[in-house]
Amino acid sequence: MKGSEAARPVAMTRRGEEGAVGEDRVGVITGASRGLGLAVARALAEEGWRVVIDARGREALEEAASGVHGPGEVRAIPGDVADESHRVRLIDEARALGRLDLLMNNASLLGPSPQPALADYPVDVLQEVFRANVVGPLRLVQLALPLLRRSPEGRIVNVTSDAAVEGYEGWGGYGSSKAALEQLSNVLAAEEPAVRVYWVDPGDMNTRMQQEAFPGEDVSDRPPPEASVPGLIRLIEGDLPSGRYRARDLVPEEPRRAGEGAA
Ligand SMILES: NC(=O)c1ccc[n+]([C@@H]2O[C@H](COP(=O)([O-])OP(=O)(O)OC[C@H]3O[C@@H](n4cnc5c(N)ncnc54)[C@H](OP(=O)(O)O)[C@@H]3O)[C@@H](O)[C@H]2O)c1
Repeated sequence: MKGSEAARPVAMTRRGEEGAVGEDRVGVITGASRGLGLAVARALAEEGWRVVIDARGREALEEAASGVHGPGEVRAIPGDVADESHRVRLIDEARALGRLDLLMNNASLLGPSPQPALADYPVDVLQEVFRANVVGPLRLVQLALPLLRRSPEGRIVNVTSDAAVEGYEGWGGYGSSKAALEQLSNVLAAEEPAVRVYWVDPGDMNTRMQQEAFPGEDVSDRPPPEASVPGLIRLIEGDLPSGRYRARDLVPEEPRRAGEGAA
C-alpha cells in the first residue's frame, strides 16, 4: 500500500470521559489486524492508550480497528513495514498525537510455507523476510527514538521467537531474522539508557502465522494470543529492566484451588 490514500487513518474509536491507567499514552503497534498485535492493541485501548496500528491488508485492518473499544482510541494506517513512506507515516501519526511511549515491532513475515531447509532457501525471499523482520523494525526505531527518549516511560518491544535461539530444522530463514532482531535489541538497550528495550518471545499461539508454519496441521491446541498479553502488558506498563523475556513466564501462575492437581 503506497500513497496518501492508503496512509490516512481508516478508523478510530472515540475516547470515553473517565480516566484510565494508560490515559494519554501513545503507542505504535505494527501488525495488528489480527493475532498478537490486535490482542495487545485491544488491551491497551481498554486502559486508555491511544494506539496507532498497521497491517498490509486495509479491509481487515479497518474491521479490526472498528472492533477496538475505549476509553482509549485506535488509529489504523494500512501499509507495509518494509516501505519507508509507510514507516514515516506511522511515526508522524504518533507525533501528531503529541507523544510516543511505546513502539511494538510485532509485524513479521514467516517466509515460504512450508519452510524450506537452508540448502534450498530462495535468497530473494530471505531478503524480503529480513526487510520486514529486521530492517523495518530498526528503521521504525530510528524514526521513533527522538519521541521515545522524551517520554518518561519510553519503551521498545520487539517481538521475536524461540526460533531466534533454537536450531529447529526449516526455521533458518525466519529464525535468523529474529536472531538479528534480538541482537539489534541487545545493542540498542546498551546504547539507549533513556528507553527500555525488550525483546520478547510470545510463545506458540493459535494464529494465522502458526498455521502457515505448520500447514495442514491442527494448531488449535496452541494457546490463543490473549494468553501472551498479560506478560506483554507487564513489560509495557511495569518497571522491568531492558532485556530478553518470554511473555508467558512474566505472569505468575494462578494459585491452585485446594485439592487441584493432587493426582
Ligand atoms: N504465532 C506464533 O506461534 C508465534 C510464535 C513466536 C513468535 N511469534 C511472533 O509473534 C508476532 C505476531 O505473530 P502472530 O502469530 O500474531 O501473526 P499473525 O496472526 O499472522 O498476524 C500478523 C500481523 O502482522 C501483519 N503483517 C504481516 N506482515 C506485515 C508487514 N510487512 N507490514 C505490516 N504488517 C504486517 C498481518 O497483517 P497483513 O498480513 O494484512 O499485513 C497481521 O496483522 C510476530 O512477530 C511473530 O513472529 C508468533
